[in-house]
Amino acid sequence: MTPPSDTPCDASSEDATEATPPGFEADVKPLFRPFDHTSMINNGLDLWSYDDVKTNATAIYEQVSTGNMPCDEPWTPDKVATFKAWMDGGYLA
Ligand code: HEM
Repeated sequence: MTPPSDTPCDASSEDATEATPPGFEADVKPLFRPFDHTSMINNGLDLWSYDDVKTNATAIYEQVSTGNMPCDEPWTPDKVATFKAWMDGGYLA
């Protein structure tokens, strides 16, 4: 007769797993090793700079998602996904 009145679940199942997009300092910058940083600085790209990585994000994504860069140790799908989520999430600092 009396329907249950509690509403135990208020989570939206659509975005429950990616509530907060990755940020550069906390999630993206640590993806780049000191060796990556040094190597690419010599090629005109500062991988530890938010502005440089944001400006070149599409080209960087192209390199890491195809396994072209870093040339000695391709990124795991997990790392590539973090970088993509950072782009899709609006390039949080
Ligand atoms: C815009 C994207 C990128 C371009 C166009 C690019 C291009 C290059 C070029 C031309 C070199 C020199 C290759 C040589 O001297 O034989 C190089 C080296 C290197 N890059 Fe990149 N790179 C990009 C992104 C990255 C990223 C995102 C990483 C790391 C996650 C990375 C890691 C490295 C490393 C470790 C080397 C040194 C390889 C070695 O000396 O054995 N690069 N890159």
